[in-house]
Amino acid sequence: MKKDLSNIKIAKKYLDKNECIGIPTETVYGLAANAYSDKATHKIFNLKKRTKKNPLIVHYENYKMLLGDCHINKDFLNLYKKFCPGPLTFVLKIRKNSSISKNVTNNKNTLAVRFPKHHLTRKLLKTLNYPLAAPSANISNKLSPVSKNDVREEFGKKIKFIIDGGRSKIGLESTIVSLVGKPQILRLGGIEINKINKVLKKRLKYSKNKKISSPGRSRIHYSPGIPVRLNIKKPKKSEAFILIKKRKISGRNFFYISKNKNLKEAARNLYKTLRMIKNKKFKSIAIEKIPNKEFGLAINDRLIRASKF
Ligand code: TXA
Ligand code: MG
Repeated sequence: MKKDLSNIKIAKKYLDKNECIGIPTETVYGLAANAYSDKATHKIFNLKKRTKKNPLIVHYENYKMLLGDCHINKDFLNLYKKFCPGPLTFVLKIRKNSSISKNVTNNKNTLAVRFPKHHLTRKLLKTLNYPLAAPSANISNKLSPVSKNDVREEFGKKIKFIIDGGRSKIGLESTIVSLVGKPQILRLGGIEINKINKVLKKRLKYSKNKKISSPGRSRIHYSPGIPVRLNIKKPKKSEAFILIKKRKISGRNFFYISKNKNLKEAARNLYKTLRMIKNKKFKSIAIEKIPNKEFGLAINDRLIRASKF
């Protein structure tokens, strides 16, 4: 407890000096900086080797804090009441006089915002007088981190501080819903579409419109850096094999992300397992078929991209 509080103090000190730090969230770890500062947000793009064309998500403690930066509407309030704080990101219209750095939005008139649930990051946000821009804390197109060690593995000593908040509970990025114009889903993630549909009383499309810039949807995203083969029944001898249901036979190369097809559990273990396999120096990965329903939709979405390596 005491240690947590002193870590939050240290984190604030770095952030106030326009530095980037690692923060825990319930989805994945973020690389955070003051969203109102050009200098601080510029550093995020450098560290991640990310193109400035790819806008950042901004994290707030609660929706009242964002009223000066964005326009909200009824759909926003309904979803907010139901799911926030939690793994849902909203794309909203940005206010003309908002304080958000132009680096964050790539000069566009929309802003992606989120209210993370992790208690340490919420405590941190409470102590700051600015929101935090925070993409996932990985080098662009690589695997997202779900622990402090993963973040360290990505950036080494290039970042000065990471708040240790344990393993991310959800283990996959937030769902992104655009509420600019007709509501639509831009990224599958921590909240299933049918739950969002229920609240909005409409059927949202998972947009495949390439014009909407959400480069998290680009093909080579989430790559473990080695070939990934999908829907495999029998792996090659040298391959790491990822499974979601216990088999009678086993092997040193078998990695279970769930013992009995629990898709939520599988989502939580996915990035962690892919990273472990990569670190064990396997040359390729085979994955058994994951049912394309519930969290399986988001898992398959990530795996298809990972397989385009
Ligand atoms: O769970 C999450 O959302 C994590 C944690 C750290 O909060 N963050 C995360 O950020 O996944 P990032 O940058 O890795 O992915 C954000 C995605 C990117 O694909 C980006 O293109 C999209 O959100 N995005 C950001 N601003 C947008 C906007 N104004 N319109 C459409 N897409 C946007
Ligand atoms: Mg990312």
